Amino acid sequence: MKIAIASDHAGFDLKEKIKEFLIEHEVFDYGTTNLDSMDYPDTGFEAAKAVSNGDCKRGILICGSGLGMSIVANKVPGIRAALCQTKQFAQLSRLHNNSNILVLSGRFISEYLAKEIIDVWFNTEFESGRHQKRLDIISNYEKEK
Ligand code: RB5
Repeated sequence: MKIAIASDHAGFDLKEKIKEFLIEHEVFDYGTTNLDSMDYPDTGFEAAKAVSNGDCKRGILICGSGLGMSIVANKVPGIRAALCQTKQFAQLSRLHNNSNILVLSGRFISEYLAKEIIDVWFNTEFESGRHQKRLDIISNYEKEK
């Protein structure tokens, strides 16, 4: 699967570790490339746009808390970004929300937990049904804007 990944300086270390265990995927890294302080919207928008325009099927964004990247990604049409701190949230974000971007906190979760969250996120299918109707309401809102 083609995956867009991006972080700011606070998520850089976790981003690099995550890339090591995404070996079965084709990963497109939208930066950042080092620990120098930078602005998370600059990399987050580029990765989210790659998912929105179909260049990548899913995305993973990381900043210090995950909050900034979530806000950025959810501004991009077609993006359903979910900040997940637990495996259960990752599972629900796929089952009910068909999340296409996973957002992680570089400063608040371990590498081990990040890997577990990612595994669940990739291995859980959207339930559709009543949840699709709700996502359609969101899509229609985007189209009306
Ligand atoms: C950077 O210090 C921090 O503000 C950023 O990584 C993120 O947590 C913003 O939401």
